[in-house]
Amino acid sequence: MGRITERRGRTLFLFLASLFCSALSEHIRYSIPEEMAKGSVVGNLAKDLGLEVRDLPARKLRVSAEREYFRVSKESGDLLVNDRIDREEICGKKPVCALEFETVAENPLNFFRITVVIEDVNDNPPRFSRNVIDLEISEIALPGATFALESPQDPDVGVNSLLQYFLSPDSHFSLLPKENPDGSKYAELVLEKTLDREKQSTYHLILTAVDGGVPVRSGTVEIGINVTDANDNWPVFSQEVYRVSLRENLPVGSSVLQVTATDQDEGNNSEITYSIRTVETLKHLFRLDAKSGEISTQGVLDFEKGEGYTIGVEAKDGGGHTAHCKIQIEILDENDNAPEVTFASVSNHIPEDSMPGTVVALIKTVDPDSGVNGEVFCRVGDNVPFKISSSTNNLYKLVTDGALDREETSEYNITIIATDKGNPPLSTSKILTLLITDVNDNPPVFLQPSYVVYVPENNPSGASISSVSATDLDLEGNGRVSYSIVNSDLEPLQLSSYVSVNSHSGHIFAQRSFDYEQIRTFELTLQAQDAGSPALNANVTVRVFIVDSNDNAPNILYPALGPDRSALFDMVPRSAEPGYLITKVVAVDADSGHNAWLAYRVLQATDPGLFSLGLRTGEVRSARALTDRDAVRHRLLVSVQDGGQPPLSATVVLHLVFADSLQEALPEMREEDPAASDSQSELQFYLVIALALISVLFLTTVMLAIALRLRRSSNPPILKCFQVDLCSNTGPNVPANYSEGTLPYSYNLCAASEVGKVEYNFLKLTGEMAPLQDLLSNDPSMVLSTSDENKKVISDLVISSHVSFFNAFFMLIFYISYLVLKIRTV
Ligand SMILES: *[C@@H]1O[C@H](CO)[C@@H](O)[C@H](O)[C@H]1NC(C)=O
Ligand SMILES: *[C@@H]1O[C@H](CO)[C@@H](O)[C@H](O)[C@H]1NC(C)=O
Repeated sequence: MGRITERRGRTLFLFLASLFCSALSEHIRYSIPEEMAKGSVVGNLAKDLGLEVRDLPARKLRVSAEREYFRVSKESGDLLVNDRIDREEICGKKPVCALEFETVAENPLNFFRITVVIEDVNDNPPRFSRNVIDLEISEIALPGATFALESPQDPDVGVNSLLQYFLSPDSHFSLLPKENPDGSKYAELVLEKTLDREKQSTYHLILTAVDGGVPVRSGTVEIGINVTDANDNWPVFSQEVYRVSLRENLPVGSSVLQVTATDQDEGNNSEITYSIRTVETLKHLFRLDAKSGEISTQGVLDFEKGEGYTIGVEAKDGGGHTAHCKIQIEILDENDNAPEVTFASVSNHIPEDSMPGTVVALIKTVDPDSGVNGEVFCRVGDNVPFKISSSTNNLYKLVTDGALDREETSEYNITIIATDKGNPPLSTSKILTLLITDVNDNPPVFLQPSYVVYVPENNPSGASISSVSATDLDLEGNGRVSYSIVNSDLEPLQLSSYVSVNSHSGHIFAQRSFDYEQIRTFELTLQAQDAGSPALNANVTVRVFIVDSNDNAPNILYPALGPDRSALFDMVPRSAEPGYLITKVVAVDADSGHNAWLAYRVLQATDPGLFSLGLRTGEVRSARALTDRDAVRHRLLVSVQDGGQPPLSATVVLHLVFADSLQEALPEMREEDPAASDSQSELQFYLVIALALISVLFLTTVMLAIALRLRRSSNPPILKCFQVDLCSNTGPNVPANYSEGTLPYSYNLCAASEVGKVEYNFLKLTGEMAPLQDLLSNDPSMVLSTSDENKKVISDLVISSHVSFFNAFFMLIFYISYLVLKIRTV
C-alpha cells in the first residue's frame, strides 16, 4: 500500500512536471494482456515518439520507473516486456489496470509519458479457502433450512470472476444461488428432506464454482455433512418376552440370561441402563446388571416355593426414553425333597389275638416335588408281620399280616419306608414301636409231665414232701399260676388229712406221718390254673410212694407165745428119724422187702447137736436119732431177725418134749422153770385183780344201761353211737398187718333205742384176724368162767350172731391183762 501511495505520489509529480516543464511531451498509450512473455514487444516507442532509429544511441531513450516492467530496445526502439506482469498483482480487483511510466530521452532531454493498459486474462480459477467444508446438521432440522456456504475467491475480474455454482446431485440437499450487494454471487445449501442419522449419518457433496472467463475455470470443494444425533429413538429389546427354564437349586450367582436393548441413537442417547421393574421379592432372587443386562440368581430357587416368575425389565437410554420387556422364568423341578411320613392315627399297642388285617396305623405321605418326583410309594421293613394295605391319595393303612404272639415277640419296631419315584429316588423311613399286649392264650405247663414222689414212712407231719411247678408264658394275671388238688385216688375225706398243696408255691405237704404198712401209694391230680379270664389250667398226676423203713420187728405167729415169750411145748415122738420135722417157727414182718426177709437162728439150745433150724424156713428138725440118754425136755431159744438196716429181731423159746403120748408129756410140761412159774403166778394175780375190776365195771355199765332203757322206754328212739377207736393211728383201710403194741380192730359200741332192738357190737373181728382169734381161743391160760349173773344179763340182751358176749368179755379181760403185763415189763 505504501508502495502504491509512493507510486501515486510519483505519478502525480510526473503529471505536474509534464504540465509545467513541457507541453511537448506526448502521451502514448499501449494495451497489452497480462502475463506476456519477457521480451515481448509492446510497441515501437521510437517510432511513436517520432525519433529516428539512428538518433537512438544519442538520445539514450530509456524507461524511468521505479519498477521496470518494461525496457526500451536500443537497437529498434521497441518497448519490450522486461518482467512478469500479473494484473491481479498489480491492480487487484480494479476493473481497469494501467501501468503508467515515463521514458526519458537526452539530447535534448525530454520526458514522454507512457501508459500501458494491462488487460485481464482469465488465468485464475475460483478458489475455495479449504478443501472441505464441514457442516453439522441435526437430524431433527426441518426441510427448507438453509446453510450458508463459503464463497470461493477468483482474483480475475469481470466475467473472469463471475461465478456459477453447481452441486453434486443429492435428494436431500439443493443449492440456492444468492447475490451479494456488490454483485458477487454465493450459494446456500437447502435441506430438502428430513435427515435420519440412524439411516445416514454423513453426506458428501461436491460444490463446483465456475467463472465466466474463456476458457472457463472452476474450483471445487467437498461439503462434508455430519448429521448430528437427536434422541429420537427409543431403546428396543431384542425380544419382547424372554423365556428361560432353570433347574431349581441353581448355585447362587448363576447366569440366567442376558437381555439386550438397542438404541439407534448414539452417545449418551444410546447408553442404556437396565433395571428390574417387579415386586420386591423377586429382587431377592434375581439380580440384573444395569449395564450388561445380564440376569443372574441372587437366591436359591426352590420349585416348591415358586414354579415360575415373570420379571419386568426396563431399559432406559440417556435421554430418558424407556422400553420394557418381560422375562418368563420357569423353574424345573428336581427331586430334592424326600417324602415326609406322618402317622395320622396310631395305636401303640394291640392285643396278640388281633386278626390279620387289623389296622394299626394310618399313614400319610407328602412329597412337595411334582410329577414323578412327588409320587410316593410306601412299604414296611422286612421280617415283621405287617403290611401296607391300601393306598389312596398318599394315605396308607398299616395292617397286621399274620398272627401275633406276644410270647414270641412282644414289641415290634416297624420301619415304614416311603420312597419317591424321582431319579435318584429319595426315601424317608420312620419307626413305629408297637407293643403287643397279652392275652391269656397259654395254659400253665408243668415242668414234668408227671411227678413221682417217694416219701419215707414215719415222715414228720407237716413237712414238705415235694413240689410241683408250672410255668405260664403269659403276663401278670394271665401268667400267675395257683395250684390245687383236683383229684386223687384217696377218698375225699382222707385226702385232706393226707396231703395239701400250697397254692402259691406248689409245695406239697404231708399232713400226717405216713405208715407204709397202712398205705403204700396214692395218686393225686394237681391242677395249675392261671388267673386269666377265662382261666386256663393244666393237670398233672403226682404219684406218691411211701418208702418202707424197718420199723416193724418180726412177729412170731407160731409157736404162740406164752406170757414169758416162750412157746408152750411141742411133743416129739421118740421114734423120730433124723430130719423129722418137729415144728416150724412162723414169723411175719409187716415191713416189706429186706425189712421183711426173715432169718431164723438158734441162740441157745440144751443140746445144740440135736436139732437143726432152717435159716429161711424156720423149720425145726431133728438132726439125729434120739437115744435114751437124751433128756426128755429140751429148750431152744430161736431168734427171728429181719434183713432191715438196722435189723430188728424177736425171740421165742421152744419147749420140746420127747414123748410118745400127751399123758406122758403132761408131767414134763408142769415142771416149769422156777422163773417161769414165778411170772406165771404173778400174772395170775394181776389177772384176778383185773378180772374182778372189769367184772364190777361191766356189771355197773350193764345195770346203768338197763336202767336208762327202762326209764326212757316211752320216749322217742334216740340213736346214740359212740365209737371207741382203740387203735388211734389205724386208718379205715386197715391192711392185714400187725403192729407191735396195737391191736388192729375197732371196738364199736352202738346203743340204739329203736323199737325192741338193741344191738351191742362189742367186738368185730375182721376175717384176717382169725388166726389171732384161734390163738386166743386156744390159749389155755385164757380159759375163764363167767359168773351166773353175767350170763343172766347177757341173756337179756340181744347178742350179735357172730361173736359171743363171753368171747368179747374174755378178750377184753385178756387185753387189759396183757396191757398190764406190758406195762410191768416195760
Ligand atoms: C425298638 O427300638 C427301641 C428304641 O430304639 C429299642 O430300645 C428296642 O430294643 C427296639 N425293639 C426291638 C424289638 O428291636
Ligand atoms: C383238669 O382236671 C379238671 C378236673 O378233673 C378238669 O375240669 C379240667 O378240664 C382238666 N384240665 C385239663 C387241661 O385237662
